Amino acid sequence: MRVLVTGASGRLGQQVLPRLRDGGFTVRAVSRRPREDSTVEWMAVDLATGAGLAEALDGVEAVLHLASSPARRTREVDVLGTHQLVVAADRAGVAHLVYVSIVGVDRVPFGYYRHKLAAEQVVAAGPVPWSILRATQFPEFLEELLRGASRFGPVIGDPAVVAQSVDAGEVASRLVAMLTAGPSYAVAEFGGPQVLRFDEAVRAWRHARRSRRPLLPVRIPGRLGRALRAGGLTTTMTPTGTRTWADYLADTYGGTGRR
Ligand SMILES: NC(=O)c1ccc[n+]([C@@H]2O[C@H](COP(=O)([O-])OP(=O)(O)OC[C@H]3O[C@@H](n4cnc5c(N)ncnc54)[C@H](OP(=O)(O)O)[C@@H]3O)[C@@H](O)[C@H]2O)c1
Repeated sequence: MRVLVTGASGRLGQQVLPRLRDGGFTVRAVSRRPREDSTVEWMAVDLATGAGLAEALDGVEAVLHLASSPARRTREVDVLGTHQLVVAADRAGVAHLVYVSIVGVDRVPFGYYRHKLAAEQVVAAGPVPWSILRATQFPEFLEELLRGASRFGPVIGDPAVVAQSVDAGEVASRLVAMLTAGPSYAVAEFGGPQVLRFDEAVRAWRHARRSRRPLLPVRIPGRLGRALRAGGLTTTMTPTGTRTWADYLADTYGGTGRR
């Protein structure tokens, strides 16, 4: 089966490509900047404009839609781009579109999540048979947040916010299994094995990096803070992944301390 992967150059995409190849799929990878790779066919597609979409979908039976642009032109890429993708996939006779979303898009009032939820709705209302997987945060993303939150010295954050990081490789395996299973017409959720409070995650991070930075507690106000403290970013759905935040920290920092 030939599968088109959008966002193939991204963090999740790079985990998905080898798993698809190992699973016997013929892979067509797309991004705005195609790469040189003898094992995968790369093509250029810009979801903000639709350029390259029709050519890239030619001969494709399934689509794994991972591309996203959280920081800029989010509506153009995530919502309108997903709409263009669905229309072009329908024209090309695609039999299954799998979309990856984020746990909490329906509960946590981030602007980015509003666009992800709208993109889910585009997929679910569209003519192409579909499945959606909402994943929790990747540990690399949580670490980027912690680095940002400690730019000025102490780690600034709301100690009672809870998160459930999940390994991107495990999400990739789950997506490949969903492709194999065929359209579910349902939204599934997939999180990591452990729900951690922000202060617990910070403690483990500091320990792994042998850092003495203190935690400066700041309560996130309003509806956003309430949603984050109430577990808006976590899921009770099973099965979960198996790799913990501690596993990620051990792999990243080993026993040698700060990088
Ligand atoms: N990061 C997390 O913690 C997390 C958690 C749960 C779910 N997710 C979801 O998982 C998906 C992948 O996340 P990620 O962390 O792997 O993202 P990422 O590393 O930021 O990669 C984003 C991908 O989107 C592509 N892209 C951006 N703008 C595009 C455009 N205009 N046209 C075509 N492609 C475009 C990029 O390709 P080029 O720049 O090469 O064009 C890149 O391959 C996203 O849908 C995200 O919402 C992420």
